[in-house]
Amino acid sequence: MRRPLMAANWKMHKAAGETRAFFEKFKPLVERADHCDIVIAPPFTSLAAAAEAARGSNISLAAQDMHWEKKGAFTGEVAPGMIRDAGCEYVIVGHSERRNFFYETDDSVSRKLAAALDAGLTPIVCVGEKLEEREAGATELVLTRQFFGAFSALTASQFSRIILAYEPVWAIGTGRTATPQMAADAHRLLRKLSDERFGTEVAHNLRILYGGSVKPDNIKGLMAQTEIDGGLVGGASLDPDSFAAIVNF
Ligand code: PGA
Repeated sequence: MRRPLMAANWKMHKAAGETRAFFEKFKPLVERADHCDIVIAPPFTSLAAAAEAARGSNISLAAQDMHWEKKGAFTGEVAPGMIRDAGCEYVIVGHSERRNFFYETDDSVSRKLAAALDAGLTPIVCVGEKLEEREAGATELVLTRQFFGAFSALTASQFSRIILAYEPVWAIGTGRTATPQMAADAHRLLRKLSDERFGTEVAHNLRILYGGSVKPDNIKGLMAQTEIDGGLVGGASLDPDSFAAIVNF
């Protein structure tokens, strides 16, 4: 049995005060949620407030991105060790907004991945097709390219430490969710690729999250698919009641 994981991606929302207020309301709502892992990814500047607020709770923290170098002249960037130091156990890598607005490539995703693993972080790696790619029947091709682009340099033991997130770009922030069936099909493909490249046991244990307009009213249907091991939630994670309802699906 794979343990479910519910991750909140706050994107560019919530300064430190709003972060503290969120945790105050959210913590009691999920304190008995021992059926799944809970991860929150605030913006960098709110990590300290989140770490303080999450101390002693069942909530772990993630960064939304990082650089692959340990230190150096990279203005504006944050290193893996700094993220660890700020209290993160996880880091989101290759989110479609990073790929589309900030020109991240499969190559930079793969470098970040290796650096995250090196620093003892658990990477949550995002893949997913755009609308025109789905409509052109290219979903499988795109996911396969992204999969090998990100993971071909990893050993099976490294790969066993990552979490995958399938996020169809057309479903992110649009209110248009993939049907549980569509998501499960994509997850099955990703698990098949994992099996071929890294072996059956590693593939079986791999957690694959679905992301893209996950809401309290569709999480149950998604989680009913055995292929779906959790959610990566943007908009609906900003409100403590809404994210708690997702965690307690
Ligand atoms: P959304 O975002 O839930 O607002 O669609 C998901 C994501 O980008 O991870």
